[in-house]
Amino acid sequence: ARVAVLISGTGSNMAALLYASRREDCPYEIVLVASNNPEAPGLNLAAAEGVAIWSHSHKGLTRLAFDELLDEALHDHDVEFVALAGYMRLLSPDFVESWGGRTLNIHPSLLPKYKGLHTHQAALAAGDTVAGCSVHEVTAELDAGPVLAQAEVAILPGDTPETLAARVLIAEHQLYAPTLAAFVGRDRSPDYLVAKVRKVAI
Ligand code: GRF
Repeated sequence: ARVAVLISGTGSNMAALLYASRREDCPYEIVLVASNNPEAPGLNLAAAEGVAIWSHSHKGLTRLAFDELLDEALHDHDVEFVALAGYMRLLSPDFVESWGGRTLNIHPSLLPKYKGLHTHQAALAAGDTVAGCSVHEVTAELDAGPVLAQAEVAILPGDTPETLAARVLIAEHQLYAPTLAAFVGRDRSPDYLVAKVRKVAI
C-alpha cells in the first residue's frame, strides 16, 4: 500500500516508519513525505533516503487552501493512506472528508487522556505513574478518532516533561509501524479491536 507521511519537524516517527518499510514483509511503502514546514529537518532525511518530498508553508493560507495543495500532492503520488507523524496542523473537514478512514496519527498520551499539546506536562501534573502513546484514526475532531493501538511507558520519580517525552518517543517508534502495517493490510472491516495495551519495557 502507498503511504504518505506528514511531518512538521524532526520526523523521527517518519524515520521509524520508513526503516520498518524496508522489511520485505512490510505491506506498505512510503511514497511521499510531506510537510507544512519547508524547513522540517525530516524532509532532508526523507530525500537522502530516496523518498519523494513535498512541502509548502501553511502561513498566509487558509486551512482549506493549504489542504487543497496537500491533497493535490497526495493524488500526484497516487497515495492510498496517510500517516501523520509529528504533524502539527489540524486537518480541514474537507480533507478529513476525502482522507478520513485512510489516515492515522500517533499521539503521545494514552488517549482519551490528554488530547492536544503538552501531554507529558499534564500527566506529570496529574501525578500519573504511567504514560504512553496511542495510534488512532484521524477524524475531524482533534485526537478523538478510534484508537487502534497503545503502548504504556512508566513514569519515573524525577521525570520532567523532556525526560518523559524522550522515553515515550521510543515507544512511539516501536508502536507506529506495526499498527500502520495492520491498518493498511486489514480487510477494511470497520469492526477491528483496539490492539491490546502493551507494556513497553523502556
Ligand atoms: C513528538 O512529540 C511526538 O510525541 C509527536 O510528535 C512530536 C515530534 O515527533 N508524535 P517526530 O520526531 O517529528 O516524529
